[in-house]
Amino acid sequence: MSELPFGASEIVAGVAGAKRLLDAGCGSGRLTIALAEAGAAVTGVDTNTGQLQAAARRASEAGVSLTLREADFDDALPFAESSFDAVVSRLSVMAAADPVATLRELGRVLEPGGRIVTALWAAPAENPWFAAPREAIGVVRGAERARFARAFGKLGDPAEAATAHREAGFVEVEAVLLRGTRFAPDAAAYWTELSAENGHFRRIEATLSDDERAALVAELDERFVPFHETDRLSLPRTMVLVSARR
Ligand SMILES: C[S@@+](CC[C@H](N)C(=O)[O-])C[C@H]1O[C@@H](n2cnc3c(N)ncnc32)[C@H](O)[C@@H]1O
Repeated sequence: MSELPFGASEIVAGVAGAKRLLDAGCGSGRLTIALAEAGAAVTGVDTNTGQLQAAARRASEAGVSLTLREADFDDALPFAESSFDAVVSRLSVMAAADPVATLRELGRVLEPGGRIVTALWAAPAENPWFAAPREAIGVVRGAERARFARAFGKLGDPAEAATAHREAGFVEVEAVLLRGTRFAPDAAAYWTELSAENGHFRRIEATLSDDERAALVAELDERFVPFHETDRLSLPRTMVLVSARR
């Protein structure tokens, strides 16, 4: 099993024992595969067909069987009521046009008593690994170019996330902050890493001149001062993890 993304092992543990699982906004399937490896029959849905293809490739490489479907959780999902005994969604529900309506729809396809576990990024201030590069882009390229990933941090407070799940009809709602750390040798190496793995930053990196890249790394350096350890950067990252029952 490859290394799981931040928060994924907590999500897998949160739905342990479930046999029919839905992963809403499954992306390239790293969590989806981990859930299947834990023994469930897992369906992943996403609107992004490229991501679904990546998930299919990843599953095939891992020797895991998944059901992957193109579906939009802003609309009715293509599943009957009570189709699943657990639903998970990592870093996706905040992108919904109306997160409460989406959560209600996830509840519809979940059997009564079934568990939902969702993860959302906490506020940008709790996530300098992301917020600092976005701010640095704003300085180097202007505020307009830094207006991406606007949903980052939406429902990013445990009380707010819990309220949204209750409004969607869930009970026994528990929301906690999950804190982790991302390490990097220095700001320049971090920018290289981040822009290789994240589409938002990759698209900007592709258009930077050498001078702009140097300015961006200098901006990052300044913002990362509080996170310097002796020989590396130690960048906080924080999620809200919600667990509830239908
Ligand atoms: C940040 S990615 C997270 C992917 C995956 N859950 C993970 O943890 O790696 C958010 C995913 O939500 C999907 N998404 C956004 N809006 C969606 C919608 N309305 N319906 C279905 N999927 C959506 C995106 O295409 C993307 O793959």
